[in-house]
Amino acid sequence: MLKGGLKGIAYDFLLSFFEGILVKKWRRKLWNQVKGPRILEVGVGTGLNIFYYPFGVSLTALDLSEEYLQRARLRAERMKKPVEFVQGDVKVMPFKEASFDTVVSSFLFCQVDDPRAGLQEIYRVLKPGGRLLMLEHVNSRGKLGKMMNIISGPFYRLFGDHIARDTEVLARQVGFKKVSTTHLFLDIVKLIYVEKEKGQS
Ligand SMILES: C[S@@+](CC[C@H](N)C(=O)[O-])C[C@H]1O[C@@H](n2cnc3c(N)ncnc32)[C@H](O)[C@@H]1O
Repeated sequence: MLKGGLKGIAYDFLLSFFEGILVKKWRRKLWNQVKGPRILEVGVGTGLNIFYYPFGVSLTALDLSEEYLQRARLRAERMKKPVEFVQGDVKVMPFKEASFDTVVSSFLFCQVDDPRAGLQEIYRVLKPGGRLLMLEHVNSRGKLGKMMNIISGPFYRLFGDHIARDTEVLARQVGFKKVSTTHLFLDIVKLIYVEKEKGQS
């Protein structure tokens, strides 16, 4: 989302178009599953999820971009939601291990340069028994996936977005054993529920 010029305009246009017609419904579904008391949103962007943040819990929101964080701060103030905003990289977060009950992401892992490292770091900061909830677009496992693989390079150069990732597989690779999915649009946009087992450290 941190793109300048035409790229930025095209990306913002795509995002707000889909936001209006589909994504709001998906965000509500995602946040209905979130449990405190300590919640972390990674890749908060301009704060489009803040509307869905529950009251009475501790909320921390992290993003690489100070510019987007500033917009998210203003949104949180307008909505009177107390949020601690942190500028940082999901791959190396300034939090102690086992700090959070739930970590939430939406449309982040299509942008992180090293998604495996990001997931590994989330694993570290989640409490045993805690959950990672992701609203993400991933590669299709069907025939469509082959086409997505082919166009993913040019798509990335145009929009700065990786469309052919397999975030569920990456989550398993970093050690999460319980991973389940709800399909929201074909098998491309998904709610991915990941749990760090109680015995895992
Ligand atoms: C497509 S936007 C999604 C923003 C928001 N989650 C939403 O649903 O509207 C992706 C966000 O991830 C952030 N981002 C990209 N790489 C990141 C990283 N390594 N660590 C933290 N944030 C990152 C970008 O700055 C951007 O705000």
